[in-house]
Amino acid sequence: MKIDFKELAKKYGTPLYVYDFDYMKEKYNRLKSAFEGSKSLICYAVKANSNLSVINLFARLGSGADCVSIGEVKRALLAGVKPYKIIFSGVGKSDEEIKEALEAKILMINVESEAELKRVEAVAKELEVEARISIRVNPDVDAKTHPYISTGLKENKFGVDIDMAKRMYIYAKNSPNLDPVGIHFHIGSQLTQLAPIKEAALIVADLVRSLRAIDIDIRFFDVGGGLGVRYDNEELIDEKEYAKAIKEAIKGLDLTIVMEPGRYLVANGGYLVTKVLYEKKNKDKRFVIVDAAMNDLLRPSLYNASHQIEVITKSTGPLSKADIVGPICESGDFLAKDVLLPPLKSGDLIIIKSAGAYGFTMSSNYNTRPRAAEVACEEGECRLIRKREEFDELVANERLFLKDR
Ligand code: LLP
Repeated sequence: MKIDFKELAKKYGTPLYVYDFDYMKEKYNRLKSAFEGSKSLICYAVKANSNLSVINLFARLGSGADCVSIGEVKRALLAGVKPYKIIFSGVGKSDEEIKEALEAKILMINVESEAELKRVEAVAKELEVEARISIRVNPDVDAKTHPYISTGLKENKFGVDIDMAKRMYIYAKNSPNLDPVGIHFHIGSQLTQLAPIKEAALIVADLVRSLRAIDIDIRFFDVGGGLGVRYDNEELIDEKEYAKAIKEAIKGLDLTIVMEPGRYLVANGGYLVTKVLYEKKNKDKRFVIVDAAMNDLLRPSLYNASHQIEVITKSTGPLSKADIVGPICESGDFLAKDVLLPPLKSGDLIIIKSAGAYGFTMSSNYNTRPRAAEVACEEGECRLIRKREEFDELVANERLFLKDR
C-alpha cells in the first residue's frame, strides 16, 4: 500500500519503523503457493522481526514459528502461534529453556550437538515425556554469502556432521524419552544462489533415506531459512525453482517440508524513517546527520550492508555524495555511505528501505538511546504496534550501589 511517511513521522515521531503488512502477507502467500501439492509448513523465523503484531500477522495466515530462545517461543505463543507449529532451534539451550519448551508441547526441538541431545533426554526423563526432536545437520556446503551469516560449513558452530547425526538418531531412537521426528539444515542467510541449497537438500535427503533403512522414520524435512532479498540489485532465488529443487531432493519420501524464512517475508516490507538534524562538512567530506543511528539499524555498521534510501524534502539543489550518519560516538555509526543527495535541511525525512528484517530486533540502547517506535499498515490503516521507549524504562531495572546504605 502507499504509505504516507511524512504523516506517520509527524504523528509518531522519529526514528520510526514502519511495516507494510500487505506486502508481508503477499510474500507469505507467494512462498506457500510455490509448495502447493506438497505437505509444507512455513515457520516464520521470529528473530527477523519479533514484534507481536508481525508474528500474529503470519499466525493468522497459518504460519508456525522458528524460535531461538525460550523468549521467542513465548512471544510466538503470545502472538497466537499454535504450539504444534513451533520449532525451537539454536546451538545453546539451557535446561530451563528445554523444560519450558517441552511443557509447552511445541512441534520439535532442533538439536545441534550430542551433548545437547543428552540434556534434552535428561530433562524429558525428569518430566516423564518423550521429546520430539530434529537434528541439525551441517552439510558442509558453501552458501556463498557474507561470512557472518554463513552457517553450513564445518568451520561454523552450527549443527553436526552427517556421521554424528546418524549416531545421534540411533541413540534417540533407542531412548524412551526421545522421539526423532525431524531433520534440519540451514546453511546461511541472504542466499541468492539456489545451487548450494539444492546440494544441501540432496545430502540431507540421502541421510533421511539411510535412516529409513534402519527404521528411523523422519517426518519433517526442515530446510531452514535463508532466502535472500533485494537490497540493491542482487539476483533472487525464484520461489518455484526453490520448491522444485527441494521436492526433487526428497522424491519418493513422504515428508512435510518445513521452511524457516525470516528476511524473505519481512525485509522489504519495512522502512526506517529518520529525520535530518543537520549537515556538516569535514573539508570535502559531506555528512548528513540524522536522528537514527547504529543502535536503531546495525546492519550497515556490522555487515557493511547497503540499504536503499529515499529522501523526502522540498529542496531541489544539485546532488552530491554524502554519508548518512547518526549521533552515536563511533565512526562505524553510519546508515549509508557515499549516496547522492540534494542539500538537506533540518526536518527533512530520509527513508531507509529494506529495514523490516534484523532492524528493530538488533537494535539496542547504546548511548542510552530509547528504541524506536514501530507502526504497521494494513489495508489502508496504520497503527502503532510498539511505543517509543522512554528514559525511565531504560533505567527501570537499575539500582544505585549506595555505599552508606
Ligand atoms: N533458521 C535458522 C536456524 C537461522 O539461524 C536463521 C537465521 C533463519 C532460520 C532465518 O534466516 P533468514 O530467512 O532470515 O535468512 N542479522 C543478520 C542475519 C542473521 C541470520 C541468523 N539466522 C542480518 O541482518 O543479515
